[in-house]
Amino acid sequence: MTLQWNLVAGLLWFLSLGSAHKDHHQQQDNENWWRHEVFYQIYPRSFKDSNGDGIGDLNGITSRLEYFVDTGITSIWLSPIFKSPMADFGYDISDYRDIQREYGTLSDFDAMIAKANQLGIKVILDFVPNHSSDEHPWFIKSAKREAGYEEFYVWKDAKVNNDGIRGPPNNWVSVFSGSAWEWHEGRQQYYLRQFTKKQPDLNYRNPAVLQAMDEILLYWLQKGVSGFRVDAVNYVYEDEQLRDEPVSGTTTDDSSVDYLKHIYTRNQPENYALIQHWRQLLDKYAAENSVPARVMMTEAYADLSQLMEFYEDANGVQGSNFPFNFDFITELNADSLAQDFVFYIQRWLTYMPPGHSANWVLGNHDNPRVASRFGVKTVDAMNMISMTLPGIGITYYGEELGMQDYRDISFADTVDQPACDAGPDNYKWISRDPERTPMQWNDEENAGFSTAAQTWLPVHPNYPELNLNAQQEAIRSHYKVYQSLLKLRKSRVLQDGTFAAQAFNRGVFSFKRELKGQPTILTIVNVSNRYQRVDVSDFIDMPNHLTILVVSVFSQYRVGERLKTTEVKLSPYEGLVIQLKPRK
Ligand code: GLC
Repeated sequence: MTLQWNLVAGLLWFLSLGSAHKDHHQQQDNENWWRHEVFYQIYPRSFKDSNGDGIGDLNGITSRLEYFVDTGITSIWLSPIFKSPMADFGYDISDYRDIQREYGTLSDFDAMIAKANQLGIKVILDFVPNHSSDEHPWFIKSAKREAGYEEFYVWKDAKVNNDGIRGPPNNWVSVFSGSAWEWHEGRQQYYLRQFTKKQPDLNYRNPAVLQAMDEILLYWLQKGVSGFRVDAVNYVYEDEQLRDEPVSGTTTDDSSVDYLKHIYTRNQPENYALIQHWRQLLDKYAAENSVPARVMMTEAYADLSQLMEFYEDANGVQGSNFPFNFDFITELNADSLAQDFVFYIQRWLTYMPPGHSANWVLGNHDNPRVASRFGVKTVDAMNMISMTLPGIGITYYGEELGMQDYRDISFADTVDQPACDAGPDNYKWISRDPERTPMQWNDEENAGFSTAAQTWLPVHPNYPELNLNAQQEAIRSHYKVYQSLLKLRKSRVLQDGTFAAQAFNRGVFSFKRELKGQPTILTIVNVSNRYQRVDVSDFIDMPNHLTILVVSVFSQYRVGERLKTTEVKLSPYEGLVIQLKPRK
């Protein structure tokens, strides 16, 4: 070969290296896109109503996809949109492959996905495997013992006592109170239902059920969804012998879910194998179709060790990409000390098996909103924490505005089944309606959510002041804080930086994110109702310039302002995100 040829060959080799390098990066992005993602939860019924019936719908979501682009959100997860009698607002599915009429049609869904993909937004669906609706054809056939469907659900004979009185097969109780067993006249047997009586438990010991569910996952994958939030996974299997659960001793009310220790109805080992199986299905789909990783996030309120098992088991078999971390809901509250925050954040990071991504759920459709749990003044600080911690952020719709629970919904307007069942004297604190009220877009009729005379749930009366439009126009607002946090999350230090935290006293804690060659980022929060003055110089161990990047709406500081390391002053519930640059 001549010298020239050698040069050309060399150049070609060099160029191919470049593209191999690019391919490698592309592959990495495809596999890891979810690791630092913010997943925004939409409760479709309450997001945007496009046809004036008072109920949010898919076309409504499609019409607001640009909102996510403006905000910096690139992944949304939707609570169930499938055909449903709405006994549990979509968590009771009667056709897993069709859209609930009031939400739209399959072609509306396709249009939503197409536009979302065009805008670079990934769509995640809610997959409800534990139970279907009692109006699902499977259940109707199963109740009639139709061939192939006899064992689709958990059926069991009654226990008959000495007086010949029929009773449920064991003492299990429903999450929504009362026996977990429901008598079926037609089949002359009890069926298990851990939630409302219209949500019979599917029987995963029957391979046909698993097969049917696998096909449903593939059906939606083929429609272009980027993954699934898997509902109530720790309820899927129950003890095969249906043994009575022991009494917990915490209450004498035997209809309460707290009456028993749920050792036979929750967190059974088989649940993990099921999740691992679905993870393989998703990974296989992504590999075979050369699409980015399809993600699976699992919902389980369980002990930490049980949750960690979802990431991967003792043999390293991968489960869900991440089990929701509900510590900000279940462990921390308005009374928590700075040390509690540090402790629970650290606890998750300590127990999480290496190589996985942490996640921080601040709210969802089952729990009071951030402003109502921690206090209205904490909204920005809480968003700062969750958006600057390592890993994945989860935002429930409206939390970017600091929306509040509407706890004063009358009993007559209450629609959440467990609250209705609790009756007019007890519904108020049980109801999940307060955190599900319509999105507050602007100060027009129904907060711009709908043109209907009546919306499915009343709009929070604070909407004339608390709405997106007002917050977009204001110089400072929760929304603007949230938006700047999302921008900041793109920095390498927040994506890959190390984490270290410290509580300075009972009210103030801080954590820093560091990465070689990058300016360090420090988040500092006052969770107390007192003015605080702290010296952070020991925590950041070298002389630094501190420049403020994000401030709470009521802060006395301004973005861009310099701070002294020895004297950071914080108002009650204030949060700051600060950049550290070594002093030359
Ligand atoms: C999950 C859902 C909740 C529902 C329950 C039963 O916990 O988040 O809304 O009621 O499962 O499907």
